[in-house]
Amino acid sequence: MKAAIVVGARPNFMKAAPLIREFKRREKVFPLLIHTGQHYDENMSRIFFEDLELPEPDTYLGVGSGTHAEQTGKIMIAFEEVVRRGRQDLIIVVGDVNSTLACSIVGAKLLVPVAHVEAGLRSFDLTMPEEINRMVTDVLSRFCFTTCHDANENLRREGISEDRIFFVGNIMIDSLLFYLKKAAGSSVLEHLGLEAGSYALVTLHRPSNVDDPETFRGIYDALIELSDSLPIVFPVHPRTRKMIDAADPPFRNNPHLRLIEPIGYLDFIKAMKYARLVVTDSGGIQEETTVLSVPCLTVRNNTERPITIEIGTNVLVGTDGQKILAEARKVLGSGTRQHNIPPLWDGETAGRIADVLEKQFP
Ligand code: UD1
Repeated sequence: MKAAIVVGARPNFMKAAPLIREFKRREKVFPLLIHTGQHYDENMSRIFFEDLELPEPDTYLGVGSGTHAEQTGKIMIAFEEVVRRGRQDLIIVVGDVNSTLACSIVGAKLLVPVAHVEAGLRSFDLTMPEEINRMVTDVLSRFCFTTCHDANENLRREGISEDRIFFVGNIMIDSLLFYLKKAAGSSVLEHLGLEAGSYALVTLHRPSNVDDPETFRGIYDALIELSDSLPIVFPVHPRTRKMIDAADPPFRNNPHLRLIEPIGYLDFIKAMKYARLVVTDSGGIQEETTVLSVPCLTVRNNTERPITIEIGTNVLVGTDGQKILAEARKVLGSGTRQHNIPPLWDGETAGRIADVLEKQFP
């Protein structure tokens, strides 16, 4: 069976890697890796291929950046050609980026079954582009592979029939658990002069946080204030870098808030594991910190990953600087950590997905 596995943006790579490894081991599914090129910078793409030991893509579509319609349209046109020529039996998409949406539409229209890994997550916020991507992808997918029970419920509520829902666990955690050992060898802490357990790690890139200068300034100023209490390291996403570079008046400096270029997977998971606190607007990092028992403050008003809040590692802090600071101080003042891990976030998800597919395509 030929399966096209689609990756496009940074958070896709660690979700595809365990599947490719599993398929190669079993030799029943023949995986073809398609990289749309949504992310193309060295440190947003290439470094992840190296760290995750991903094979070279079989096809690189090279679509690059653009408006949502431009980017989605370009991916659809290029990917349609790939599927027409390659006659794949299955298209596997992961996560919720524009590449996920574009390729699931192409698959559905060419009548090739689509499998969505990480299906059913909902923020119930249609101003978030990923929410649209998630909803459309799920409705078109023959296989909705879910990470948690609330995702199953969301799909049922939207009328997805039971035979399309497969609760398999969290594939991103397969990569996290698999690579933690290798990441132990990373010298990122020494390199950045950080002491284990006594720094905060920050990532921010959501349009709702960084595209509006005033919103972003409020968050940034809170980080400056927090950096008086503990050093902060902030690998800056290209979207966020643009905003910082264009800011007028410029953002304040504080030597304890270090803005650095985006870092690779192994360095990042090591930096996350030893952080005292993580402040982020990412989706995946909310889950990775849950498994690592690291307190996480999510700079958003909602999350499509409510299980991380139920478990207690994650707190939604919105975008108000004072609230972010107050919650950060609560974390710094408390010595307790949550150690619960959601069901099936166990490193075995790729195996469960392969089991389902082998049954359906004997
Ligand atoms: C995308 C995903 C988002 C995901 C994020 C992770 C969508 C709608 N959004 O957002 O869900 O959380 O990736 O990073 O798919 N750029 C570069 N170099 C790159 C890539 C992007 O400079 O390698 C710059 C470009 O100026 C581009 C901007 O970043 O216009 C945004 O890139 P884009 O892919 O549109 O969205 P992200 O914000 O990265």
